[in-house]
Amino acid sequence: GHGGNAPREPPPRRRGQPGPSRAALRGCGLSAQGSWRKAVRSDCCEAGRDCLSTLTTSTEDGAFQTKGHNTRILSPEEAERLANDRVLVSDFKQLKLEKEAQKNWDLFYKRNSTNFFKDRHWTTREFQELKACREFADQKLTILEAGCGVGNCLFPLLEEDLNIFAYACDFSPRAVEYVKKNSLYSTERCKVFQCDLTKDDLLENIPADSVDVVTLIFVLSAIHPDKMHLVLKNIYKVLKPGKCVLFRDYGLYDHAMLRFKSGSKLGENFYVRQDGTRSYFFTTEFLSQLFRAEGYEEVVNEYVHRETVNRKEDLRVPRVFLQSKFQKPFSKT
Ligand SMILES: C[S@@+](CC[C@H](N)C(=O)[O-])C[C@H]1O[C@@H](n2cnc3c(N)ncnc32)[C@H](O)[C@@H]1O
Repeated sequence: GHGGNAPREPPPRRRGQPGPSRAALRGCGLSAQGSWRKAVRSDCCEAGRDCLSTLTTSTEDGAFQTKGHNTRILSPEEAERLANDRVLVSDFKQLKLEKEAQKNWDLFYKRNSTNFFKDRHWTTREFQELKACREFADQKLTILEAGCGVGNCLFPLLEEDLNIFAYACDFSPRAVEYVKKNSLYSTERCKVFQCDLTKDDLLENIPADSVDVVTLIFVLSAIHPDKMHLVLKNIYKVLKPGKCVLFRDYGLYDHAMLRFKSGSKLGENFYVRQDGTRSYFFTTEFLSQLFRAEGYEEVVNEYVHRETVNRKEDLRVPRVFLQSKFQKPFSKT
């Protein structure tokens, strides 16, 4: 789960203990891409929601980030534990989770208010395309933050770039209210609305072919894999031809995936947290297929391997994310 009631087994490896992380990643041919930089807490992306409150990454501690196409290599124990976790949550309970998905996210925001996800100031840095997207210097960009939560990506973006108009939507009415109440919210610069991306037509709020960049940040993982294509279809309609979806989400074998207790598995790479919210862990192949089937073209699609360090507990935590970019073609041929 997120927050304090999260499954904590097995404990992450202690620093200094043998493990697959750094050496194995080197061994599998990943190259560090100049990312041995000091990072601030807000840089730890999803780490904060996975119970490690003092996470930070730094060069001295051997924290690092690599990008590439290889999946994380598990230790034999980790591989065995995953392979042995075969029993799936009952169909009855799965249906209930699907029916109550919105309620569960809304309750999540009721409990956590706006404090849970760290402001995602890394968005502009990691997704430099947001700025590169401009054809001329002061061009106004229209973005859609799909599944915006309480606006942790949205507001840093609006702050950093004055020449953006942002649409933002979320499943949870409570999250949408928080966005509207934020002091940085202004109807001149953004339009936020409640919607289920798998059901509600975005065209009701956004003109067709009008958006320069769609960001989809840790949202698709919360949606049942059978319905993910509906989200991509929906987004496609509002995206300008030639423009992109910027995607970041959990990758296969991320630390969070290995921590689920047995009894949490819903399907392949798909798990339920204790609070009823669900999480899918993506492979590059799965994501690529999903986007291509809806007519997008792949521009970038790679794993980000990052080892975060919890100084207080002296733990190394191997995180795996998928960072990708898919384009709506200029014209269908
Ligand atoms: C992990 S949060 C990420 C929020 C935000 N993008 C961020 O990075 O801080 C996942 C979000 O997806 C939203 N969500 C889940 N299913 C959805 C759906 N079917 N339609 C729209 N939003 C959905 C949830 O309400 C939640 O706010």
